[in-house]
Amino acid sequence: MRITKESFGKDFIWGVSTAAYQIEGAHQHDGKGPSIWDTFVKRRNKIAKNQNGDIACDFYNRYENDLKLMQKMHITNYRFSISWSRIQPDGMGKINLAGIDFYNRLIDFSLSLGITPWITLYHWDLPQELEKKGGWTNREVKDWFGQYVAICIQYFGDRVKNWIVINEPTVFSAAGYFFGVHAPGKKGLDNFLAAAHHAALAQAHGGRIIKSLQSASHVGTTFSCSHVEPFSYKEKDLIAAKKADVLLNRLFIEPLLGMGYPTHEIKVLRKIERYMKQNDEVDLKFDMDFIGVQNYTREVIRHSFFVPFLQAKIVSAKKRKVEQTAMNWEVYPESMFHILKKFDAYPNIPPLIITENGAAFEDSVMEGKVDDPKRVQYIREVIEQVFRAKSEGINVKGYFVWTFLDNFEWAEGYHPRFGLVHVDFKTQQRIIKSSGHWYTDFLR
Ligand code: NOJ
Repeated sequence: MRITKESFGKDFIWGVSTAAYQIEGAHQHDGKGPSIWDTFVKRRNKIAKNQNGDIACDFYNRYENDLKLMQKMHITNYRFSISWSRIQPDGMGKINLAGIDFYNRLIDFSLSLGITPWITLYHWDLPQELEKKGGWTNREVKDWFGQYVAICIQYFGDRVKNWIVINEPTVFSAAGYFFGVHAPGKKGLDNFLAAAHHAALAQAHGGRIIKSLQSASHVGTTFSCSHVEPFSYKEKDLIAAKKADVLLNRLFIEPLLGMGYPTHEIKVLRKIERYMKQNDEVDLKFDMDFIGVQNYTREVIRHSFFVPFLQAKIVSAKKRKVEQTAMNWEVYPESMFHILKKFDAYPNIPPLIITENGAAFEDSVMEGKVDDPKRVQYIREVIEQVFRAKSEGINVKGYFVWTFLDNFEWAEGYHPRFGLVHVDFKTQQRIIKSSGHWYTDFLR
């Protein structure tokens, strides 16, 4: 069956996603304060080849041409994030009008080209000044974040309707505060649980603030998620898979839906209660207008005695000898179908929008062209899985490719290329890949 854009109906939303630190560069321009990523990338051996996002795609200076390219590619929805420390260099108090001006220009130019902005308010770049006060481990972050969100709505809410409160709380709290492999590089269970709880509170709080200031807004938040399968049907592996599912897929969505934290499966998670105050259980709940689903692969899980707290570990794609991407993630488009089905099964779940999906492969420029058939195939097959879910009655309303431009992939640096558009980081030249042309044909 050939699936076309029309198969999804005319209201289905198609777009691309990016994030500020990964593309903007201009890390010290026009009064911007440092973020935890500006600080983290300067630590030795934290990032592949010690690379950083100081310049990245130089989107800050090149956004006009990039948006024109987006328009030429028939992309009509653009999800990007705001860098908090461009708006408030210290994370609180003083507003930097030059930062406001940049996002005003970006929003206005997008709209003038017929591109609808979808703004993520937090995509991992906490102002460094707030990290000095404990960052996400400090409960006050909820109020700091709330004030920043209110500023964004006041300045941009007259033109922007679609808001995403937080990007992937599981990833930034676990990678940044448990494993120490992302900014701010903190480790340990206590840091993780505190950060996770405050992120969950901020997520609902942010949603409430947006609605209170702009009742006609369309508000969501995004979750990383992976279909989880047990390595075998042995009891131990089944239990391990269940635990992994809690951490990978359930930890943040369930409190948001008013179900509380899923502490049943993993005893140690109950320690999160240490950080809870009266009323928190109620405050964690918020009725989003949509849930952003971000899926890239599946995870196969087996029991392991050696993993503290969990006794569960991921069996890598390499070990399983299955096809993988440049991130070493299994190529498994069906994961999207299973995840949509899983999320859709929650009672009172709002509509789902795939706010990120894509793949990194080794690309090369040959005679001025970048041919990336694997990316074309992966995206096409995922879109087929989205159609399958929609045909089964699942309320999925949109799909955004991660990502528009090759960019700074956090701890992995510039090596994994996820873009529909190739970027030469020496010359900043852009080349639309075959996947970009494919997406344009699909959207046309
Ligand atoms: C999730 C994150 O939101 C994004 O920043 C990242 O680049 C992609 N996934 C790919 O890993």
